[in-house]
Amino acid sequence: MRLVTRRAAGLASEGWTTELRDETERYFDALSEDWHTRVSPERTAVVIDALERGLGAAAAPRGLAVEVGSGIGTYSPLFAERFGSVLAVDLSLPMLVRSPAGPARRVRADGASLPVRSASAVAVALVNAFLFPAEVARLLAPGGLVLWVNSSGAETPIHLTPEEVAASLPGAWSGVASQAGDGLWCVLRRDDSPAGR
Ligand SMILES: C[S@@+](CC[C@H](N)C(=O)[O-])C[C@H]1O[C@@H](n2cnc3c(N)ncnc32)[C@H](O)[C@@H]1O
Repeated sequence: MRLVTRRAAGLASEGWTTELRDETERYFDALSEDWHTRVSPERTAVVIDALERGLGAAAAPRGLAVEVGSGIGTYSPLFAERFGSVLAVDLSLPMLVRSPAGPARRVRADGASLPVRSASAVAVALVNAFLFPAEVARLLAPGGLVLWVNSSGAETPIHLTPEEVAASLPGAWSGVASQAGDGLWCVLRRDDSPAGR
């Protein structure tokens, strides 16, 4: 998973290929039935901490949040509450069909190429999910936010440090990073906010 994470983020050679996408899809399809066993109050608390302390510091606007790699939808209600509207995207159909009907709208798609208009999202949320830097940057409106959470910190299979997340994204970003329990998070804002000009 570490190498796949780095390939998705453009930090390892070969990058994201159709073969790797198909292999990844099969891998998570097979895990979907038991994914609910990975849900815990402690893991949810890491996401809540990122929203409360990370977004509190970033003065997040309301609007569309795109949640990439939403899995069985555990965290979508938290994003809906904070941002108002959530499009939850996952590559795995079995993960999506195990997700609640709402409040998020759900789409099966590859995070490397999303059916979402450019500059339409106020935030992209990635909880234990692959970062596709160019696509994340494309989706975000000026001053848009990236919320990155690793539930088990550096032990998370899909792990990048906050510094790696910021360095992978095109353009200039600033924000905050922290630990919460066993987890880590960062909230980054692209430095092209109209208010910041
Ligand atoms: C480690 S799980 C995390 C799920 C959920 N966010 C959580 O923390 O419980 C990663 C999720 O990303 C999805 N995924 C993997 N590759 C993806 C891609 N290229 N585009 C969108 N989703 C992807 C998987 O199907 C899986 O549901």
